[in-house]
Amino acid sequence: MKFNQFDGKKVLVTGHTGFKGSWLTAWLLRLGSSVAGLSDRIPTSPAHFNEARMSGRLTHHIGDVRDLGLVSRLIKETQPDFVFHLAAQPLVRRSYLDPHLTIETNVMGTANILEALRLAQHPCTAVIVTSDKSYDNVEQVWGYRENDALGGKDPYSASKGAAELIVKTYAHSYFSAADSPVKVAVGRAGNVIGGGDWADDRIVPDCVRAWSRGESVEIRYPRATRPWQHVLEPLSGYLMLAISLANDPNLNGEPFNFGPPAHQNFAVAELLDSIKEHWPGATWKDVSGTSSFHEAGLLKLCCDKALHKIGWRPVMDFAETIRFTSSWYRSFYESPDIDVWGLTQHQIAEYELFARERCAIWATA
Ligand SMILES: NC(=O)c1ccc[n+]([C@@H]2O[C@H](COP(=O)([O-])OP(=O)(O)OC[C@H]3O[C@@H](n4cnc5c(N)ncnc54)[C@H](O)[C@@H]3O)[C@@H](O)[C@H]2O)c1
Repeated sequence: MKFNQFDGKKVLVTGHTGFKGSWLTAWLLRLGSSVAGLSDRIPTSPAHFNEARMSGRLTHHIGDVRDLGLVSRLIKETQPDFVFHLAAQPLVRRSYLDPHLTIETNVMGTANILEALRLAQHPCTAVIVTSDKSYDNVEQVWGYRENDALGGKDPYSASKGAAELIVKTYAHSYFSAADSPVKVAVGRAGNVIGGGDWADDRIVPDCVRAWSRGESVEIRYPRATRPWQHVLEPLSGYLMLAISLANDPNLNGEPFNFGPPAHQNFAVAELLDSIKEHWPGATWKDVSGTSSFHEAGLLKLCCDKALHKIGWRPVMDFAETIRFTSSWYRSFYESPDIDVWGLTQHQIAEYELFARERCAIWATA
């Protein structure tokens, strides 16, 4: 399998204590990488990172990506072959309440990673994780392509678009030579679900928190549609992008969308009704019109570039995505002594099996 190329490699994951970062760390450890993580804290309680007792399995650094000196020292000490930059303030509602923190973390945090890589001049391939919200969302019915305009009506979206401009500048100004030791690319993903997310103001975490206490949940935007995908899908995209970029300098500075197939755009209400089927007694209430914050109603990604340039495509359908997500949380809430590390590894193994059966290039080649 192509991902065997991570075996024995040194990898730095920023945001490793978060939802996506902890799954990525779990997968890289499974692939045989030696992982160092940098995060400013454990962002939630409970947290996947803690529940799976991950701190002893990697080199765990608590620190702030806004601190250039710290980031530079860490990159010089670690000398990573790969960097996956996920550390961010990732919540739209929080970005309205604290725009400056969001912009500092997401824009300057990204600039600091790139500057530290520029100064270190150590051979390294970096994937910077942004979002489908980087696009100027005009609520079009077709998917955004990588050359569509960036924008963002809320501070979070704007910060991710701005981070991308910084990546483009560094790629163009400092890392463009064919023999540049540093290569960088951008991964844009959509709305990710999966076990182990307990962030505030996200649909699935809000629901499982309420449902595990036997409560109903209030939903502000039940008709909004999103490109829902299981967390392992964009992670396979980031891993595939890193391997491809390491071998092909033409990908340097390029952004890539990682989303579900076009028909897998479901409304929030459909998502919740599907999860409810796996969660006896779960209920939700439509409270649309009660929020003063703007949220996009429609958002889709076109992932043709990832397919044609790096051979990536999603593996699971909507029903499997729902099953993976529901069964992870139900196992967690129903079996207090469950081995969470084992649960996560089991799902990664099942996902790899699907990928092999469905001939995903990273799983077969
Ligand atoms: N979850 C999604 O649906 C989704 C969708 C699109 C893009 N993304 C992007 O994926 C990345 C990971 O998102 P997530 O859902 O795992 O978020 P999360 O909130 O679960 O994790 C964020 C991580 O960043 C760390 N962090 C925050 N501020 C920091 C700072 N100043 N210094 C160091 N570390 C800091 C946190 O400690 C945590 O480890 C983010 O860049 C986010 O914008 C997420």
